Amino acid sequence: MPKIFAFIPAAGQGSRMGEGVPKQYLPLAGRPLLHHAAAVLAASRRIHRVVVILSPHDGRWAALPQPWPRGRVEAVPVGGTTRAQSVANALAHVADDARDDDWALVHDAARPCLAEASLDRLIDAVADDTCGGLLAHPVADTLKRGDRHGRVVETVSREGLWRAQTPQVFRYGLLRRALAARPDATDEAQAVEALGEHPRLVAGEADNFKVTYPEDLALAERILVARRPTT
Ligand code: C5P
Repeated sequence: MPKIFAFIPAAGQGSRMGEGVPKQYLPLAGRPLLHHAAAVLAASRRIHRVVVILSPHDGRWAALPQPWPRGRVEAVPVGGTTRAQSVANALAHVADDARDDDWALVHDAARPCLAEASLDRLIDAVADDTCGGLLAHPVADTLKRGDRHGRVVETVSREGLWRAQTPQVFRYGLLRRALAARPDATDEAQAVEALGEHPRLVAGEADNFKVTYPEDLALAERILVARRPTT
């Protein structure tokens, strides 16, 4: 059975949040934002290793409590200048343990509301695939293209459009090649597509959004609190 290596890129500065603290460390439902993503992956028995990718200048992770079994979540300070570079460096970090047909599953630190069922659905959907795939959500809103004056230029068809989420999971060897060639890719799928592959789209939940703006934190908090057991 191919092994699944999970990676959480958390080496960004999160400048759009307008806070002094990097986004991944902002408090959310009683824990740092990053801990929510790590906890879901750490709880999955299907995942072989969970690797958090930190900036080499990170001074926060080591001081935090580790609310999972000892050694279950590894932190590696190999973050690069782009997200793709951060992931590429972390893939190299596990090279001794990974085979080309193993899986590399990448999940944003900034998506705290991933449901375990969605993670399982993604892993099941790609099981026989030579490439891999990603969670994504079909676009529901009517789309407008605007000009620089804030006026509508045209309505863009939403047919066939999906919002790419994470996790994204690809064969380890394929993803290494893809990211080496495209260090500017904004997600793993884009790099893999550039090799001529067609990643599988697996329907995810709208809840699995990326915390980007300050108001997103309040929404994520409501979702996570509502999921807590009532007893
Ligand atoms: O900035 P954005 O929200 O797109 O970042 C997505 C994820 O990639 C975040 O979890 C962020 O910490 C991470 N990242 C990284 N290394 C970078 C830039 C972003 O690990 N150089």
